[in-house]
Amino acid sequence: MGGGIAQTCAQAGFEVVNVDTYEPALSKARANIENLFNKKVAKGTMTEGQKQEILERIRYSTEMKDLREADIIIEAVPERMEIKKEIFRAADEAAKEGAVIVSNTSGLSISEMAAATKRPDKVMGIHFFYPAPVMKLAELIRGIATSEETYQTVREFAVAIGKEVVDCPELPGFIVNRILVPMMNEAAFLVMEGCRPEDVDTAMKLGANHPMGPLELCDFVGIDVMLATMTGLYNGFRDSKYRPCPILENMVKAGHLGRKSGQGFYSYNK
Ligand code: 3HC
Repeated sequence: MGGGIAQTCAQAGFEVVNVDTYEPALSKARANIENLFNKKVAKGTMTEGQKQEILERIRYSTEMKDLREADIIIEAVPERMEIKKEIFRAADEAAKEGAVIVSNTSGLSISEMAAATKRPDKVMGIHFFYPAPVMKLAELIRGIATSEETYQTVREFAVAIGKEVVDCPELPGFIVNRILVPMMNEAAFLVMEGCRPEDVDTAMKLGANHPMGPLELCDFVGIDVMLATMTGLYNGFRDSKYRPCPILENMVKAGHLGRKSGQGFYSYNK
């Protein structure tokens, strides 16, 4: 997600510093963007000049201190509160006065991350959707302490990078995941009850006009991400209607994480 968000901002004309303490993750992000742009150039939807111009707007660094000039810092680390808080503390220390720090969480508490900083009024959530450069929506989430000024800054920024925005309550799943992820979970229950994944996906593509079937989408976003989001809804609302499907838990334990691991509801090994 981090690479996709960096690409989205650079394409909209913003200077971006993509920070990850793990250097191979940066090399992978750079290669992904370059490969994607090469395909666009080959397809004729981007010129070589545009490609170079956008790539030059993205710098890569393993040091948080390289965020010191940033007006807006967007966090996109794994969905675990202890990691989020550690990153928020470090970003708060590295950031200049007045900078806004935003989380791309898909459901965790913005207020809790904000409390890890000395600037809770300047913390907010923007939830992007995968793939971030393509998906038009950004969900905006205010924490308890988020100021009106921060909200307006973040809203203008989201619009400036080409997103349609919606305001969401600070509740697990916000809007999209609260509706989408239980549907994907229900699709997993159908498989548990004996349906073939192909039938479930074909049904939803042709019967509901979804661009991808729910199980294809599980593989696309990652079974681990899907399970974590469903578990977040279950724990957050303490309501059994959000119980994660057991086969998702088994798949994660087996390392069947979807496209990224080569195996999910479908096999991607050549
Ligand atoms: N990253 C960046 N750009 C991508 C991309 C990616 N991973 N995949 C495709 N694109 C771009 C292509 O470059 C192409 O751009 P171009 O026209 O300028 O060349 C454009 O998207 C269309 O690509 P394709 O023709 O290859 O692909 P499709 O028309 O088949 O569409 C799709 C691909 C947009 C992924 C479509 O299948 C889709 O909308 N799927 C559903 C995605 C979805 O529901 N996402 C939300 C997931 S939930 C979530 O993110 C929340 C989280 O918290 C769990």
